[in-house]
Amino acid sequence: MNGRDLVRSVKLVGSKRGLRTVRSAWRRVRADARALPSRGPERARVPGPVTGAEPGPGGGVVRFARSELRIRVAVGGAVFWGWDGAEPLPSYALPREAPGADPRAVLEPGTDGGWQVVSERLTVAVSRHGAVELRTPGGVVLRRELPPRWWEPVGGGDARWVQRSEVPADARFFGLGGRASGPRLRDGSYGLWNTDPGGRFGPGDDPLYLTMPVQVVVSDAGTHLVFHDNSWSGRVSLREGKEGAGSGHDRPGMSEVRMDGGPLRCWVVAGTPARVLAGWSALTGAAVVPPSWALGPQHARWGFGSEREVRRVAAGYRERGLALSALHLDIDHFDGHRVFTVDRERFPDLPGLAKELREDGVRLVSIVDPAVAAVAGDEVHDSGRAVGAAGAFVRDARGRVVRGEVWPGACVYPDFTDPDVRAWWGGLYEERLARGFSGVWHDMNEPVSFTPFGDPSLPRSARHALEGRGGDHREAHNVYGLAMARAGYEGLARLRPDERPFLFSRSGWAGMQRYGGTWSGDVATGWPGLRASLALVLGLGLCGVPYSGPDVGGFDGSPSPELYLRWFQLGAYLPLFRTHAAIDAGRREPWEFGPVVLAGAREVLEERERLRPYWVTLARLARLTGAPYVRPLWWSTPGDRALRDCEDAYLLGDALLVAPVLEPGVSERAVRLPPGRWYDTVSGAVYEGPGQVVVEAPLSRVPVLARAGAVIPVRGADGGVELEVWAPVVGRGGGGTVVGDAGDGWEPVTVERYTTRLVDGRVVVERDGEEGRVERPVRVRGV
Ligand code: GLC
Repeated sequence: MNGRDLVRSVKLVGSKRGLRTVRSAWRRVRADARALPSRGPERARVPGPVTGAEPGPGGGVVRFARSELRIRVAVGGAVFWGWDGAEPLPSYALPREAPGADPRAVLEPGTDGGWQVVSERLTVAVSRHGAVELRTPGGVVLRRELPPRWWEPVGGGDARWVQRSEVPADARFFGLGGRASGPRLRDGSYGLWNTDPGGRFGPGDDPLYLTMPVQVVVSDAGTHLVFHDNSWSGRVSLREGKEGAGSGHDRPGMSEVRMDGGPLRCWVVAGTPARVLAGWSALTGAAVVPPSWALGPQHARWGFGSEREVRRVAAGYRERGLALSALHLDIDHFDGHRVFTVDRERFPDLPGLAKELREDGVRLVSIVDPAVAAVAGDEVHDSGRAVGAAGAFVRDARGRVVRGEVWPGACVYPDFTDPDVRAWWGGLYEERLARGFSGVWHDMNEPVSFTPFGDPSLPRSARHALEGRGGDHREAHNVYGLAMARAGYEGLARLRPDERPFLFSRSGWAGMQRYGGTWSGDVATGWPGLRASLALVLGLGLCGVPYSGPDVGGFDGSPSPELYLRWFQLGAYLPLFRTHAAIDAGRREPWEFGPVVLAGAREVLEERERLRPYWVTLARLARLTGAPYVRPLWWSTPGDRALRDCEDAYLLGDALLVAPVLEPGVSERAVRLPPGRWYDTVSGAVYEGPGQVVVEAPLSRVPVLARAGAVIPVRGADGGVELEVWAPVVGRGGGGTVVGDAGDGWEPVTVERYTTRLVDGRVVVERDGEEGRVERPVRVRGV
């Protein structure tokens, strides 16, 4: 029993559900012991020497004595390779089809008896023994994958494998989904198994809810993203390299990916960070654009408890003139915690409440948990049982429905890897829409089954449809949240075709952005939790999931007024800006922490609202280009090593640099600047990058700098969109993109591009392609 187990079991013992969780945990253990007996003796295998090769579309197949390697360069430049006959499909990460092969990429003999494929952006060189080297067009090595090794059970079954790789000595690792210890992933081992940490988490907890085998590697040689397309459980060990280690030689950085089964196949995208993310989004699908209101401030609470309390909080915001876009109802509004129900005593008229709030510009968002109460007579349960021939719920290897333990008590789990189940589940959202909800918040979908020991999820031997291929939970676990998101997204899009669905989900996997965003989950209240909040958002953005944010104030306990305000200030500059807390946690309304906090919160709320057109633009750009709203400081200058190591500030789009305060007792802080001139957006102070400067950071505000030459769309006094232009530097110019707000539907948008320059000390703004005519009001700052 590890520390986590101990905490969990102590919490469960003596509780009403204690006995049931113990029983369900033992059922899980027994089911797996029966269906997944221990592996027994294994045989190790490596590819062996090369024996031949055969050209094919975008590359071809290289044969080895004991395996074969398929290489395919796709149009757009992404490179695929798969061992043992692995193909790009089927894959949960790719939207439907794999991209076509680039006809210009051909397989040809390499040096030393190996083979190579030369493509526009990368050369893939395969050695005689199956090492795969990726080189830039200039011949610099970005990554070297050593020959893989498999372990096959002698008695048959799934092979485990390990793939070790070397990266340049100066490389830094990012990604792997949401990691509390990031964004820079230091030496250590990172689990690939979506996990509810059970209660609350801090920087030391790993893995968390949303993992994925996606590494973004940044070095002087270039930036690349590597995706091991395999949803099984696994582990990634990383070790940063060292320059001039041992007798002056560089020690390369090391990545070791170990998977407990499934295919060994890989995608690599290389180029500038912007091109890498563009390529990744082309491969796994463009990010959905949240409705505009979901870019405004939101407030959630586990334990509103009644309509009266919801009204009280809404009125609290309204009466103080604080902006509020949405209120989120948690499981306490359900009847007995059962999904798609309402406690009619405490929430007698949800549609009425929703209508009333809506008139004040506040939407209602509903939590949706996947587990369904295992109660005959429960409508959702009964309708699920009637899906298809076998019903909607996950079964064990002996064909019996698997039961777990979640909020409503004994529960069963829809198998979202079955298209019929997704269609059924998507239809259930009609009830939510009829109650007046405007969006959904998917939770507990790792999926969770409370347990006093071991993995808080389903038995690994539980069966899943996996789109008709059939398989078990070892393969389905990590894509469970992703498949649930697909069900919800498609259901909402079908039921309310005129509006873009608003959905965010605790768990997910590569490709999650096609259906919605995510949030940090139960981040522990404390300064380390604040830091982890930023790490998660940055890391997820680099993995292609751009819309996320933390529980502002932290999930548990009570933040000090200072911590609350600093969290609020950070949250205001992250895509999902939402206060939330556990049922037994202290208050999180901005007025509960005294007048100083209220004034600070008001200021940053007003700024969030003023910047709303910029947020709308960032959301659209994330879809159009793959670039996350929140980007690491090295985004445009990955060659700047100091920036690569800087984890306490970030770029919000191209125009702004946000330097949140992540420590107590601070009134100024150091900021590492990317190249160029930067203006403090409040004091107007001017700074020149690259380099480190100290900026004012009084409790009343979060330091935000604007890039010289930037064009930022902001809300003007009359509610229309104005262009805020920050004076460019002589001879350098600047510019920006503005995407208009086309509402919450699917209307096409117009992309406006502006350039700025300084002529005779005057700032000139022009719109591309419109004879320079600028129709929006312009406000110049920084002169
Ligand atoms: C989980 C969620 C949390 C939610 C709670 C009750 O802990 O992460 O946000 O409030 O469940 O539904």
